[in-house]
Amino acid sequence: MFPVPLLLPLLLAPGSAAAAPGVTARTLAPCYSADLRPAAGSLVSAVGCTVLLTAPELRGSRAVSWEYRAGSEEGVILSYGFRHPPNVSRLYENRATFNESSLSLQVVLQQGDSRLYRLRAQEEATTWFHLHVVEPLSEPQIVGNSLVKAGGSTKLVCNVVQGKADAYWWKKNGELLVGNERIRFVENTTLCIVRVSISDSGYYTCVVSNAVSQNETSFLLKVHHSTNVVLPVVLTCVIFGVLAGVIFWCQRRENSCGKCW
Ligand SMILES: *[C@@H]1O[C@H](CO)[C@@H](O)[C@H](O)[C@H]1NC(C)=O
Ligand SMILES: *[C@@H]1O[C@H](CO)[C@@H](O)[C@H](O)[C@H]1NC(C)=O
Ligand SMILES: *[C@@H]1O[C@H](CO)[C@@H](O)[C@H](O)[C@H]1NC(C)=O
Ligand SMILES: *[C@@H]1O[C@H](CO)[C@@H](O)[C@H](O)[C@H]1NC(C)=O
Repeated sequence: MFPVPLLLPLLLAPGSAAAAPGVTARTLAPCYSADLRPAAGSLVSAVGCTVLLTAPELRGSRAVSWEYRAGSEEGVILSYGFRHPPNVSRLYENRATFNESSLSLQVVLQQGDSRLYRLRAQEEATTWFHLHVVEPLSEPQIVGNSLVKAGGSTKLVCNVVQGKADAYWWKKNGELLVGNERIRFVENTTLCIVRVSISDSGYYTCVVSNAVSQNETSFLLKVHHSTNVVLPVVLTCVIFGVLAGVIFWCQRRENSCGKCW
């Protein structure tokens, strides 16, 4: 019977008897990309979204400060002394909201807010909380030749314009594109097709994703037979010839009208 009461405190505080209290955070709605579930220890959220950081009650919380750390750089986000309005650091000015009753902090996220956060009171502080702030991806751009001769080769490059992609993949006419001896994916961003055939014509979509977003762009690839090119060229010449004639005629008419006026 005797050892049980001695063991009890250890069982109630697994890990360490001296475990410091931790911050809990969650992304607030509306945020179209990030997960809205609360998290302890670390959270991934998106630029433009609002995160709510909460801490359990600390000893000596008549004066508290929310602090950040990034590498060797440390700073105070805001400090709050009993009954005085909180002082907010320039870094978080106009985007940090402090709740004086719960001591929680709300921040509208910017790029560069990926830092460690904690709440410090007079007598104790929480452990550091990791916040990862990821920029949602805009539509990528596909650069390449849209008109390719059968038998030739082509290269489509998918460029991410805004944000950083963790993964790239390609679809053709809506279906996942799998590589083979003619179709290769080079350095994630580039699709290479060699010995192009008419059946390679279609809509190619580049899909990019990261922890908070997915976006895509499509590109129409047209493959033509080398001989088929004669007819469109002839047609184009005829059309341009006719247009040129019409313009010339209009100009003459205009000139003659000008003279009449
Ligand atoms: C807030 O700033 C004022 C002026 O710089 C200073 O006097 C005051 O002590 C600060 N309050 C806290 C809680 O740090
Ligand atoms: C501050 O926190 C308390 C307790 O969590 C909550 O009831 C109250 O609505 C919050 N105030 C604001 C302005 O968010
Ligand atoms: C893709 O990016 C565009 C801006 O380029 C944005 O308006 C759109 O919401 C994004 N789509 C998704 C699904 O995130
Ligand atoms: C791109 O591909 C290389 C290997 O070819 C890989 O190491 C890297 O993580 C990839 N990067 C992205 C953003 O997919």
